[in-house]
Amino acid sequence: MTTAADAGLPDDPTSSGSAQDAATTVQLSAAPDRDAAARRAEDLFIDSFGYRPDGVWSAPGRVNIIGEHVDYQDGLCVPMAISHRCFAAAARTPTDRLRVRSAQSETVLDIDARDLAPGRVEGWPAYVAGVLWALRPHISGSTTQGMDIMIDGQVPLGAGLSSSAALECAVAEAIESLLSLSTSPLQRVQAAITAETDFAGASTGGLDQSASVLSRSGHALFLDCRDFSTRPVPWDLAGQDLALLITDTRAEHSHVDGEYTARRADSEQAARDLGVGTLRDVDPSALEEVLPTITDEVVRRRARHVITEIERVRAFDSLLASGTVREHVAELGALLDASHDSLRDDYEVTVDQLDVAVEAARGAGAHGARMTGGGFGGSTIAMVEAGEAQQVASAIAGAFAARGFAAPEFFLALPSEGAGQDR
Ligand code: GLA
Repeated sequence: MTTAADAGLPDDPTSSGSAQDAATTVQLSAAPDRDAAARRAEDLFIDSFGYRPDGVWSAPGRVNIIGEHVDYQDGLCVPMAISHRCFAAAARTPTDRLRVRSAQSETVLDIDARDLAPGRVEGWPAYVAGVLWALRPHISGSTTQGMDIMIDGQVPLGAGLSSSAALECAVAEAIESLLSLSTSPLQRVQAAITAETDFAGASTGGLDQSASVLSRSGHALFLDCRDFSTRPVPWDLAGQDLALLITDTRAEHSHVDGEYTARRADSEQAARDLGVGTLRDVDPSALEEVLPTITDEVVRRRARHVITEIERVRAFDSLLASGTVREHVAELGALLDASHDSLRDDYEVTVDQLDVAVEAARGAGAHGARMTGGGFGGSTIAMVEAGEAQQVASAIAGAFAARGFAAPEFFLALPSEGAGQDR
């Protein structure tokens, strides 16, 4: 089990700085205990279905450290898995019934697996059923597909930390084992993406599912979205007395899907205007010459974000290859800051809460801070001295209280292991 102390933080989660009042006293959640959570999922399965499951599988949520809104333009990203996971306790049954329940919802699914088709399942169970549907090409025709699944999702919902990818990827691991498939991790990533886009009808570029399946403990993941190739990059912040503070701003997501689709359309328009397949193909050193060829001012700014963000990821990766995070903390932090500013000004996917959290973190001494994920609400990350995480969190909470925003929630982002079997 990883504790706050492991992350270089005081055990007492209560802020204790001077001049703290109720509004700025914050709870900094330590990492959940994975073993205990897996046992809980097993117990929930037994309580609900009345027998012991064949196993428990889980997959993590993610934060994206840098490389935002570039995955759908063949870009580069550096996400990491967080310690909050979604658990799937499951058993194969000698039928074709797919029965799915969740500790977080009253909604249940009970359907003949052979009848699965896009549009047949609504709400969160679509993310589960969609994975079985997407894995069909890997399942031999004579195999019965019946199974019972109990979901226990512990990735905060609506926080931009990829609770849906964690759900899909945990289920993909469970199905791989239960039906003795021989898919590669990348094929499971692809099945999770297909489940979300083609079955559940939501838009995603693949960053979240890649991070959830392919991340390694203690590392961030360098992800090339052109071919979804990855390599782990060292990201041991705790060992260097640093921490990555996640702030769930709890800002209401509104029109997220529509805005996400609109940004993708803008970036596709920009690629067409520039005569390239995707914005990854634009030579960043020629940026100032090529941008004026885009006539629409908004599309031009969208292109500038994507092209410069991919360059920031290259710079981030080079810094990590040439020394420790501690050695390059100022330059890495500056790249996080520049990423946020570009998402705010050029890509226009931030909201007040995201901007206020980032400004407050910077003002309280963070080395760098940015929104993470799709935006329009959700979470920010701040790279901070481990001993200052409480003080930065308190500053953000204070800034939120002063603006009359709902109180945010704080977590530590400890780089965790991707999807796998727990029990
Ligand atoms: C959401 C999508 C990802 C990615 C991010 C922005 O999380 O699911 O595919 O596009 O937004 O980087």
